[in-house]
Amino acid sequence: MLVLRFAVAGPGNCAVVGDRSFVWARTARGSFVLPARCPHRGGPLHLARLSADGGRLLCPWHGSATSLSRLLKTGVPAVRRGEEVTAVLPDAGDTPYSLEHRPLSRDLRTAPPAGTTAGRP
Ligand code: FES
Repeated sequence: MLVLRFAVAGPGNCAVVGDRSFVWARTARGSFVLPARCPHRGGPLHLARLSADGGRLLCPWHGSATSLSRLLKTGVPAVRRGEEVTAVLPDAGDTPYSLEHRPLSRDLRTAPPAGTTAGRP
């Protein structure tokens, strides 16, 4: 397993593993590790907006909707401690990765309500 450590925000807030990248997203429904690239055509999912009902992420490129509940339930196992996130991917432990910066949309920088935990609504 590959254990990634990266910043919650600012420089180094995006872990890049091969052609995949991950950021820590915070919404009113919970916090979770978000793939920063849209599965449709690689758009910047880290800049996604929430749908009007707050239940889906809308990609800024073509508008594909991703269920927030699904991301929260089936996402990358992770925990936030202070300003750092530790996430676990199924990749080999010696898989190289780098840390970069990705800005987050306002909708992905909202503090979840007290009492919620990583990956759970
Ligand atoms: S790249 Fe995200 S909807 Fe097309």
